[in-house]
Amino acid sequence: MAKRLRPLLATAVLFTLLAACSSAQPAAQPTAERFLIGMSQANNAEPWRAAMNAQIAAAARKLPELEVRFADAAQNNATQVADVERFIEEGVDLLIISPNEATPLTNVVARAYDKGIPVIVLDRKVNGDKYTMWIGADNKLIGRRAGAYAAQWCKDQGRAPCNVIELRGLEGSTPATERGDGFREGIATNSAVKIIASQNADWIGDKAIPLAVAMLKVNPQVDVIYAHNDPMAEGALKAFQKLSADPSATLIIGIDALPTPDGGLKSVIDSRLDVTYVYPTGGQEAIEWAVKILEQKAQPPKEVILDTLEVVPANAADLLKSFGGE
Ligand code: FRU
Repeated sequence: MAKRLRPLLATAVLFTLLAACSSAQPAAQPTAERFLIGMSQANNAEPWRAAMNAQIAAAARKLPELEVRFADAAQNNATQVADVERFIEEGVDLLIISPNEATPLTNVVARAYDKGIPVIVLDRKVNGDKYTMWIGADNKLIGRRAGAYAAQWCKDQGRAPCNVIELRGLEGSTPATERGDGFREGIATNSAVKIIASQNADWIGDKAIPLAVAMLKVNPQVDVIYAHNDPMAEGALKAFQKLSADPSATLIIGIDALPTPDGGLKSVIDSRLDVTYVYPTGGQEAIEWAVKILEQKAQPPKEVILDTLEVVPANAADLLKSFGGE
């Protein structure tokens, strides 16, 4: 078969060369369309964001027509605005952005969108509706489920009052507001549950340590720690350690549940966290939608909401296996 094709191929090459020589114009080459995607990441330094980038890169590697350029804003709004402006100048065919904070990034995202660049907003939101689509999990629901879990736990443990310390994500980022609001709705079924202290650790584990130390010091009875993400929950555990205090009688709640060796699933298996919630990065879905928008000219829905899962000791090991973790 291959042998029979070879003379045909040689003839085709010859004709192509002859055609190229005999005409003033170079022969038209069948060029497959290629697409450049700009991916503006809020902060590569956080493990969950590294996982999002890795998912995007892995999904894009399977599609040779796509090139993805990554930019890291290092949790700085001005840097992220500049990153998006550079992507616009470079003429990206599509922009994916996971914005650091909503308000400072809204205008530049709108600028890209107004120029006709499709924009996929991932996980954190911008204000208004000048973007093509948003993909992410329902943070209010996650907060509500965490609150309901805490309310039930306090009841089961007979803790009244049941004092909660909250470690919040970066204030201008939408999941922080939504996870905070949802939690307050979730605990409303149990009037014994009280948020006695709340501090902003900007999503960063190391920032959570001194804040948790200070809150634990002034509040002798803490029943629940609600951290808006797993790194801050781990930060709270380090605070217990620093104070030589025992966290075992305290309910520790996180969010993210990464299937990595130092991720939340492993933390639940190892009994460091009591409960966490799978917060999918949406990286793969972003590339799937990018392809539909660019190649099939699809009109995407304005929102794609990803599923979450509650992770407790009973299901953590199975979930870790199902996510391919170890
Ligand atoms: C990483 C992160 C995650 C969190 C998400 C919310 O920057 O803080 O831990 O779930 O962002 O946007």
